[in-house]
This record gives sequence, C-alpha cells and structure tokens, in this order.
Amino acid sequence: MKNDRKPDVKALNNILPREPLLLMGAGPVPISTAVARANSVIINHVGSTMGEVIDGLRRLSQYVFQTTSDKIIGVSGPSSAAMEMAIVNLLGPGRKALVLDNGTFSHRWGEMAQRIGSDVVSLQGSGISPLTALSVKKAFSQKKFDVVIVTHGETSSGVLTTELPQIAKTAKQYGALVIVDAVTTLGALDFNMDALKLDAVIAGGQKALGSIPGISLVAFSNDAWEFIEHRTDTLNHWCLDAKLAWQFWGFHKYHYTAPVSGILSLYEALYEIKQETLKTRWARHKVSSAAMQSAIEAMGLQLFVPASYRLPSVISISLPDDTDGDKVRAYMTSVFGVEIAGAFGHKIVRIGQMGEQCRAHNLFKTTYALGMAFDHCGVKVDVAKAMAVLEKGLAANQAHVVVS
Ligand SMILES: Cc1ncc(COP(=O)(O)O)c(C=O)c1O
Repeated sequence: MKNDRKPDVKALNNILPREPLLLMGAGPVPISTAVARANSVIINHVGSTMGEVIDGLRRLSQYVFQTTSDKIIGVSGPSSAAMEMAIVNLLGPGRKALVLDNGTFSHRWGEMAQRIGSDVVSLQGSGISPLTALSVKKAFSQKKFDVVIVTHGETSSGVLTTELPQIAKTAKQYGALVIVDAVTTLGALDFNMDALKLDAVIAGGQKALGSIPGISLVAFSNDAWEFIEHRTDTLNHWCLDAKLAWQFWGFHKYHYTAPVSGILSLYEALYEIKQETLKTRWARHKVSSAAMQSAIEAMGLQLFVPASYRLPSVISISLPDDTDGDKVRAYMTSVFGVEIAGAFGHKIVRIGQMGEQCRAHNLFKTTYALGMAFDHCGVKVDVAKAMAVLEKGLAANQAHVVVS
C-alpha cells in the first residue's frame, strides 16, 4: 500500500449508534456519569495526585474485597490479565494446581497455569453443575496441591459455586493457597475475602464493579504475599510480576505507564460502591435479579440453571426449540436499543445483573424488549404478565430506582 493512500473508513461518529445501546449482557455494563467523566481525564501517572488516587483506590478495594490486606494491585489489562498475574506469581514449574472447571472461564485458569509449566489437575463435575468441597477433598486424598483455583461465578452458563466457603476451608486444611475468580460476583453479591481466608481474588472493572473494561484488580492475602516475596526465581512475565507492580501500587514509583483514566474510573466506581455501601448494593442486586428471573418465567420462558446454584449476576435463559438466539438479540438491539449476551456453546441467551444494570428503568426496558423479541421470533410469551411480575418484585426494594 502506498503511504499516501488513505484508508476508506468511516468517522467514529458514523459507526457508533446515535444513542448508546443499553448494555444488559454479561459485561461490559453501563457506567455512571461520574465514572464516564473520570474516564475522560488524564493526569501524570507518577505525580502526587496519582499517588493519592492509588492509595485511595487500594483502600476502597480493601472495602469492596472485604480484606485487611493492602496487597491489592491494579492490572493494566482485562480480567484475564489479572488471572495471569495471580497464576504467574503463585504457580509455575514444580507447583501443583487443582482447577475447578465447569465452564469456559474456569477452564481458562487451567490453560493459563499449564502454559507457565505448572502441574495442573482439572476437576470436572457433571455438566454445568458447580464443583463441591467433597470432590476437592477426594482430589487431595490422591495428590497434594499448592494452589486451588475456584471460579465463583461461571459466566458462560450462569452458575454459582455455592460451596465456595466449604471448598476454601477444605483447601486450607490441606495447606493450599486459594485463588478465586470473583469477576462476576465481586460488588454484586455477598463476598468476604478475609472471612473465607482466600489468598488471591481477582475482579474486572467492567462487571459488577461498574467501571470500564481493560483494567482489573488482584488482591493477595498476607500468606500469598509472603510466598511471592520469598520467591527467588525470575518470573517469565515482566508486566505481571507482582513485586515489580508493587513498586507502583505500593511506592508510587514507575513500573510501566499506568492506565491513568482506567485507574480514575475504577476509583470513581469503587467510591460509588462505598457511598452506596456494600450491604445496600448486595440487596439491590438480589432484589433486581430475583424480580428479573420471576418476570422471565412469568413470560413463559425457562431459566437454564436450577435455582439452587443459579448465579444471580448473570441470568441464562433457555431458548425454546428452533429459536435462534442471535435473531432474538438482533431484534432487541435494532428495535429497542437493548443488548443482551449470546452463549458459549449452550442454547441460551444471557442477561446481566451487575451494577447499573440493576436499575428499575433498565429492567423494564429489557423485559419488554426481550418479550417483544421472542414474540417476533414466533415464541408465545405473555409480556404484560412479565411486566406486572417485575413491578411487584421490584416493589420490595426502592434502592434500584436511584439513577446515579
Ligand atoms: C468469570 C470470568 N472470569 C474471567 C473473565 C475474563 O474477563 P476478560 O474478558 O475481561 O479478560 C470473564 C469474562 O467475562 C469472566 O466472566
């Protein structure tokens, strides 16, 4: 290509929809105005203002993760990069990992651990169902593991690992460190890192924390940090080396140029969580998701995951035979400006219940759009009944009404 030949592409304004789509999928989620504003600001990444911001962000994170450990590190990258930070610092050649694998994202942990030469055993349950403490106990009776990895919410199917407390307790009894993927749960449901004695917890900005994609967090326990500090081998990953990253996150010194606006957005999002308080936020999510689930069922559709291990933050809806989920989604987008998520292999569509998604106006719009789209695709649904059930479900809690 000659240098003077300009590419024939449109201006961004001509690509983006006139009105932003309402993001009701499994993330990214809509962000508040304050978070959007923070995302538009650039400051010096190692100046004194940034120093105050990262110290504050670590303290806000301690609140959201519910931990007294201050070894909380932001990662310039997706949640997958935060997963890798946990993996490369706690695993590697000669280290043994037990990975609880019941779907796309929990499976990813095993792949990552294997790639850096760890000895990985993957524990698989039956179908989508979550793994149990008993299966972890059985695995330990056959082999010793240094690390156990649990995905709290398996987003691909909408499944919650309900036995997380028992699994963590079992792993600790065997002396293992516990890594938890809380990407779809932190900020949405009751989660307490210290009470569960977890050693590394990862979260991404774009889910229940209500921030932007591309920046994520890892919180390490004191035990995990002690292991990291005393490790003498040189890690293969330079960006993800927690000791190097701590230069920035602990001492405000240069590691790499920090994702300034991402850090500011995350600060603002966590600050909003603190203002709302975790208790109120968890209650808002609970009521919102329960109301949404009831509305979907009232419409005549079926939920994919049994209630006993259903993840409240990502609701999976079974597609009736011969219904094309992509057509349902495309109709919702083109007619109503509402976007929900497709699937990773299952015959489902998925609706997120994280952060700003759990607001009454978003729920009503989504429920109506969903019903009309299924109707358009030839599925008999009762949209009016769904709207009435939604209204009744939401009446139990007023926090969802607030528009921030
Ligand atoms: C549970 C879980 N873990 C990890 C990830 C990976 O996140 P990212 O796409 O930001 O790398 C996701 C993404 O949806 C997820 O849902």
